Amino acid sequence: MNKKECFIGSISNYKGGTGKTITAVNLSAGLAIQKKKVLIIDIDPQSDTTRALMQDPMKINNCIYQLLDPGEKQPIDLKDCIYSTIHENLDILPNITETSGLEIPLAINFPESNWNLRNKIYDYVKDKYDYALIDCPPTLSIFVSNALYASDFVMIPVDAGSGNSLEGVKGVLELMQSVRDNGNPNLRFIKILINKIDRRKSAHKANIQEAQNRFGEENIFETTIPTSSVFETIETMRKTSVFSYSPTSKGAQGFRTFTKEFLSFFEPERSGE
Ligand SMILES: Nc1ncnc2c1ncn2[C@@H]1O[C@H](COP(=O)(O)OP(=O)(O)O)[C@@H](O)[C@H]1O
Ligand SMILES: [Mg+2]
Repeated sequence: MNKKECFIGSISNYKGGTGKTITAVNLSAGLAIQKKKVLIIDIDPQSDTTRALMQDPMKINNCIYQLLDPGEKQPIDLKDCIYSTIHENLDILPNITETSGLEIPLAINFPESNWNLRNKIYDYVKDKYDYALIDCPPTLSIFVSNALYASDFVMIPVDAGSGNSLEGVKGVLELMQSVRDNGNPNLRFIKILINKIDRRKSAHKANIQEAQNRFGEENIFETTIPTSSVFETIETMRKTSVFSYSPTSKGAQGFRTFTKEFLSFFEPERSGE
């Protein structure tokens, strides 16, 4: 095989606000800066990733909606749903809020509809990209199961300040087991990412300790992402990644280190470069 293996991964946690979207956007951008060909897939109808990476959402003709819509008469070509971003090497398969209305039509074809995303993207993505990251909604929905059936791995961001976000980890691990049992047996759990950390706060230390006790230290990335106002600033100012907005910020440094750790996990042969 000439091309290196491509890995497709979901970024998931049933709790909202844990950092799924900032991880998807900034890890994707970090990988693209490392010259990896990356596709970010926004399967969350809230479309936060799409708003972050597409400066003009009016340009979206086709997206996840048309790909997953069981009522779509003409099969849509995946290529027509993928857009470039301001980051070289980073493309996006965007979403729109109307996709939330597909839950009921997709439920009619359950459980076959669990496979819709995988059937539409898998071969093309494996051929064209090095990594694909799927930003999941914070719900137990058909969209999350579509993401997990299409994935090789799952990583889970948790909010260091919220004990509840550890409960969301449990939910994802349970769904992963069901997805493995029902036809995607190689789905791997790739670690928890601790986000929004402030080491001065004792509650944060206690939550990290709890995460280590419950899920094992080996299942938690060494890199943690600090609490940093840069993430809110880029959201408010409609900027894309921390790298394009403020490459020297604490947030950018966090994601730069995390991108390296992530790459050394998937490509151990390049460690030490
Ligand atoms: N490390 C961080 N420091 C400061 N704010 C953060 C951090 N991570 C996320 N946020 C903010 O928290 C909110 C939720 O983050 P987001 O990535 O959208 O979570 P999710 O996708 O899991 O719902 C956003 O407003 C984001 O800007
Ligand atoms: Mg999100």
